[in-house]
Amino acid sequence: MQTCLVALSLLSADFSEMGRAVRLMESSGADWVHLDVMDGRFVPNLTFGPKMAADLRAITSLPFDVHLMTEEPERLLPAFIEAGANWITFHVEATVHCHRHLETIRSAGARAGIAIVPSTPVSAIEELLPDVDLVLVMTVDPGFGGQSLIPSCLDKVRRLRDLRRDRGFGFAISVDGGINGETAAAAATAGANVFVMGSAFFGSASPAAEVAAIKSLRGKPTRV
Ligand code: DX5
Ligand code: ZN
Repeated sequence: MQTCLVALSLLSADFSEMGRAVRLMESSGADWVHLDVMDGRFVPNLTFGPKMAADLRAITSLPFDVHLMTEEPERLLPAFIEAGANWITFHVEATVHCHRHLETIRSAGARAGIAIVPSTPVSAIEELLPDVDLVLVMTVDPGFGGQSLIPSCLDKVRRLRDLRRDRGFGFAISVDGGINGETAAAAATAGANVFVMGSAFFGSASPAAEVAAIKSLRGKPTRV
């Protein structure tokens, strides 16, 4: 059984209090800080750039899980590597020469991920699977926090889990969008082992309990 990791998203934090949000993540047991980078083109929203990552890097040792929702993500790779990103994930729908970008990330010593939106099939990234450290399955259309998980996306998690097992790959499977204790249980059963959570964490009266609930999923498969 794989370890369940919780990556908390800054997207739902108060942007005037980012340092405080990261400290809350730390004290709540987060495994990773998830940074949603949006460009207003790939998704209809804007967030922040590498300076945010660099400034926050100075106040925490938690791994940074950068999720680029940007067109031509390759343009931003050097800056996020320089800012101290540990994991960098970009969308297959946003660029062409994916192997080259994965290699750029990995050769800099970071871990490389590929992401797919709900309408993109697993087959679109099949050729990349030997070269990725993480596959991020968007379980909502990206751009905003607080949306509801699209259940059919979990079929793709199952397919990735089976491919990983059958071909001996080692990538992590991350789910992002509409994750809470309940949906995380279904995603864990499907094969996910990284759980990105934004609004369910920041909107909770007991944020540490939200993290603990997901971490306790390990070894407790539930019905989907
Ligand atoms: C959405 C982002 C997510 C977002 C998840 O485009 O990629 O990481 O923060 O937020 P919730 O957990 O509210 O769906
Ligand atoms: Zn994200």
